Amino acid sequence: MSSQKQVIVETANSSYPIHIGRDLGVQLKEQVESVRSKGALVAAVTDRNVYTAQSAWFASLGSEVPVFVVPAGETSKSVGKFAEVLDFLAEHKLDRGGVVLAVGGGVVGDLAGYAAASYLRGVRFIQIPTTLLSMVDSSVGGKTGINISAGKNLVGAFHQPIAVYSDIELLKTMPPREFASGMAEVIKHGMLQDSELFDLLEAAPINGPADHRMESVVEWNCKIKAAVVNADEKETAASGGRALLNLGHTFGHAIENVAGYGEYLHGEAIGIGLVAAGILSQRLGHISEDDVVRIRKVVATHRLPTSLNKPLSTEKLLAAMRLDKKVKAGVIRFVIMKRIGQAATIESADMDLISDIWRECGAS
Ligand SMILES: NC(=O)c1ccc[n+]([C@@H]2O[C@H](COP(=O)([O-])OP(=O)(O)OC[C@H]3O[C@@H](n4cnc5c(N)ncnc54)[C@H](O)[C@@H]3O)[C@@H](O)[C@H]2O)c1
Repeated sequence: MSSQKQVIVETANSSYPIHIGRDLGVQLKEQVESVRSKGALVAAVTDRNVYTAQSAWFASLGSEVPVFVVPAGETSKSVGKFAEVLDFLAEHKLDRGGVVLAVGGGVVGDLAGYAAASYLRGVRFIQIPTTLLSMVDSSVGGKTGINISAGKNLVGAFHQPIAVYSDIELLKTMPPREFASGMAEVIKHGMLQDSELFDLLEAAPINGPADHRMESVVEWNCKIKAAVVNADEKETAASGGRALLNLGHTFGHAIENVAGYGEYLHGEAIGIGLVAAGILSQRLGHISEDDVVRIRKVVATHRLPTSLNKPLSTEKLLAAMRLDKKVKAGVIRFVIMKRIGQAATIESADMDLISDIWRECGAS
């Protein structure tokens, strides 16, 4: 049974709908036609995997919409690919009235969104997320950008889409490991903002896009992220705010750094990070040991690791935490839970305690 949902995201200067459902092609096509009927161009950007896996979807979009295909993966969030997307838009003479469709996961959303933010000093764009992570996380909030050699996401812009179409059917071609990785952000949202969502995941895990709860879960997550982002659109709040979305990420980013990119998918590192953040919250007296057991179970039943596959050096993990770009004036800001469903930022933590937590998560 298909039930279509809509979340309206309000930002300081704009408001836009996120459509969530299983048969959104017709609605999207109408919006594309309405732009084209005014004489403007609609152009799409996607990656090779999505283009291949969703060939029927692209065919139904029609040959009037030119498609630029970048290689799949993080390396496409580069200055070089960014320039190629701009050249593609210029070659097709997309003007101020034109619209860019970003059809893909977070990589395509960030790259195409940033190209839309920059081309002609900003043109409109529509996000069509095709991964769970991009549906529940990267397509909400307006952050776009690319990587440079000095680091990830160091260049970009805040640019809100005019609409998001989260078509759950598109997730059916995702590799199961990528789907599980996206669930880490869903679990995170429950832990930081909504105990009811956490309870739902605890009652029965969501193991694939066919689950009938998917539309509601995506809707719920968009609302949670939109609420956090609305309150702190440009991440300027002194405490709490958008930084709460980093729950588990201070630990998770350190794992990604030390293990080397490719060893863990992002969500897998975050799975361990969420467990570590749970242990930290418990050691600081906020949640119970039983809550930590619950967090471990929810992470594990969603096919995510709860501890390191093989030991990494605690010293290296601590050093990576200190180098995280979110570290300001040498202070590592941790996100902890006051209880499951309510998070807070803390300005510092005893590093001996953090070392103990790393060892508990399998570090040497
Ligand atoms: N802008 C933000 O607020 C924000 C937030 C979180 C993450 N991000 C960014 O998002 C990126 C990660 O996004 P992601 O996890 O979606 O990764 P991704 O875009 O690389 O997609 C993961 C893999 O799945 C493939 N894929 C995507 N959709 C598919 C489909 N429907 N069928 C078959 N294969 C498919 C892709 O080709 C890729 O190989 C990172 O670059 C990260 O920095 C941005």
